[in-house]
Formats: sequence, C-alpha cells, structure tokens
Amino acid sequence: MSRNHRLLVKNAKQVVLICNNGEKFLTKDGVQNLCVIENGSVVIGSDGLIKAVGPAETIRVQYADASFDKVIDATGMCVLPGLVDAHTHPVWAGDRVHEFAMKLAGATYMDVHRAGGGIHFTVEHTRAASASNLLALLCSRLVRMQRAGTTLVECKSGYGLELQTEIKMLQVIEEARRSLLINISSTYCGAHAVPKGKTVEEATEDILQVQLPRLKELMSAGKLGVDNIDVFCEQGVFDLSSTRSILQAGKDMGLNINFHGDELHPMNSAQLGAELGALAISHLEEVTDEGIVAMAKAKTAAVLLPTTAYILRLPQPRARDMLDAGVIVALGSDFNPNAYCCSMPVVMHLACVNMRMSMPEALAAATINAAFALGRSRTHGSLEVNKHGDLLVLNAARWEHLIYQLGGHQEVLRYVVIKGKIV
Ligand code: NIG
Ligand code: FE
Repeated sequence: MSRNHRLLVKNAKQVVLICNNGEKFLTKDGVQNLCVIENGSVVIGSDGLIKAVGPAETIRVQYADASFDKVIDATGMCVLPGLVDAHTHPVWAGDRVHEFAMKLAGATYMDVHRAGGGIHFTVEHTRAASASNLLALLCSRLVRMQRAGTTLVECKSGYGLELQTEIKMLQVIEEARRSLLINISSTYCGAHAVPKGKTVEEATEDILQVQLPRLKELMSAGKLGVDNIDVFCEQGVFDLSSTRSILQAGKDMGLNINFHGDELHPMNSAQLGAELGALAISHLEEVTDEGIVAMAKAKTAAVLLPTTAYILRLPQPRARDMLDAGVIVALGSDFNPNAYCCSMPVVMHLACVNMRMSMPEALAAATINAAFALGRSRTHGSLEVNKHGDLLVLNAARWEHLIYQLGGHQEVLRYVVIKGKIV
C-alpha cells in the first residue's frame, strides 16, 4: 500500500469503534459492547473516509510503505468517533439572558411564551437580522460546537414563522454547510410556534399552502438542501391534528420526520410519530408507557435533551424506561436561546447523572444513535471502514474522561478531526 493518505492516528491507548459490524443503531443490549481496541490506529484516506481501523501493529505493517499528509502520535491517548448533536436551534439574533433571570425567579417556559417572550422574542430579532449577520452568528456557534467535539449537527429553522425568514434561515444554514467542515443536517421548523396574530389553523394553512410549496420549488431547483421536517407539538402551540398534516406533507416531499413532542404535556406525540414512520421525536419528558412501546416497535429514535429538562426544571426524560423497552435513545444539546449549551460532553454528563444513563449508553446516544436519528448512520457515528473520517483524540488514558470531566472538554480534547482534517 504505497498510496498517499490524509491522516494516520497511531498507537492510541484505546480506540472506541462504537460498533464494528455495520449496526445502524444500538439499543440497550448492543451498548454492552462498544468495541474498544486497546493500542489501535486509524487511517483516513485523501477522500476523507476511513480506510483502516484496528490494532496498531497490523496497521503499521499494512501501511509500512504509505505516506500521510499528517500523522498524530496518540500514545497514551484515546480515539473516539466524532460526536453527533441531533437537535439544535443555532440560527438566531438577540439573546434571552433576561428571561433566564425570570425563569430562575419562578416563571415557567410557557408563562414567558404566553407573555410574548420566548420564541416570539427571538422571532422578532431574527426577522430583523440580515442574512450575513445570522451567518456570522451561526458560524461562531458551530465553531464552538466543533471545538467541543461535535462533527455532525442538526440545525433547525423556526424563528421566522413566515416564508421569507424561514427561507432566509435555511439559506444561512446552507451557506454554513459550504464554508465549515462540520457536517450539517438541515431541518425546516416553520411550525415552531403560532405567529402572533394568527390562529393554529391559519398558521397551518400558511405552512401547507405557502411555505412548503416554496421550499419544494427551491429544493427541486437544487437551491436548498433540507433534510428533515419538525413541528412543536404542544398544548398552546401545534395540536395533534395540525402536527399530523404538516409532518405528512413534509414526508410527502421526501423530508425525514423529526419533531418536538410530549415535552410539557402528554400529547400522544410518540404514538403519532410512530404511526407516521418518524425517524425521531425529541424531548419526550411527558411520554406515556404506550408511547414508549410504540416508538420501540416503529424504530423511531428518542432524542433526549438533558439541558432543557435541567434549565426548565422539568421532569427528567425517562431514559431508563426507554432503554429497557428497546427504544433507540439519542442525545442532543438543544442549543437555543433558552438552553445555551454547545457542548455534547456536558450533555452526556447530564444524561448520565440526571437521566441515569451509563457512560457507554450516553456515548452511543451521542454518536451512532444520534446519526440514526438524522438518517446518517450509514456514513457517520462510528469508526468503521468507508465511513466519514470524523474522530476525536482525547488526552486521557480512558475514553470515559470525555464525560467524567464536567465542562473539561477544552482541556482534555486534543484534536477534533472532520473528514481527516484537524479543525
Ligand atoms: O426544543 N420546545 C421548543 N423549542 C425549543 C426552544 C426554543 C426556544 O425557546 O427558543 C426547545 O427547547
Ligand atoms: Fe428544540
């Protein structure tokens, strides 16, 4: 093998593959074996894909004649797949630090929303912001996420609630996709709230008759790449029947269903998602037993968001019940002006302490299962030959330090690599 390759990461104390036989997700039993190689190496080719991963000595012999643009000597360190953040709202202007103070003083999320703040506050500022300002804000947030180890991130629109701003947000996401290395899964979330002055019926009509048809045109013309459709299915926001029509219309356009459900009230969102073949449902703090069974059966992933439950002091999502029932559990940061967190290591830490997940469960949830929730687990989420060369090099002798050191990822994360390039 004398070809030139982009990157060799050699002699790592541990290489955590997550899975090595093509699984597209891991449920509770699969997580028992995360496939950790002691003293391993990884080769990433010039196309940015993984060419080899295995025992260091085997790779040394196989690639003895090869050349590499870059070699990382990972002696004493650990290698893990890049993290996947399955739920973020990163395109917005303004912040809501004043609302954080209100919530600390006792106001609930819906108190603030009904008083015209919350999402409505952000909508006002985002409508007024220029695309270039939004792009600069988005890129600075994505860079923070990359630094914290995220290599694939879902990014939602949803602070426009009308055609022009929703498209502006999606175009900004598209632009960021072109200018940064981080992989992006883009989500249309025009049904994030009912715009001021409109009823749910009017808002639904606008989405079905105006926004989605325009999105379809732009997508067919190759001007916009959108992957998923989202709705905030909640009391006082979008009810079950409007959620159903919007998600079905998105699905008919070829979008993956991935929506907010059962967050503040039990809405039977889980059952609806399972019935519609949703790839994923987020939040689920108020999911019922029946909802859990339906999701396990339909292989609809649960994207749990520990930061939101923590900040809003909500009941913790029932991660253990879901894992026991065989649900595919994924994690997301939910980065947004309410939950200002860009760090998946912090999210995993909270998932372990507050939601009682084990560290292997949290890591699988923040890699292969989050990739599955975005329809990307054939290409991302584990260290396997032919997948994207997205990985982390951790300056620690055991991979668990990534979760254990609360807020310590800046110090412990030595390299973040996306498609074989150090970011
Ligand atoms: O996932 N719950 C709805 N949407 C977001 C919050 C968005 C916002 O408050 O700006 C969430 O937590
Ligand atoms: Fe959200």
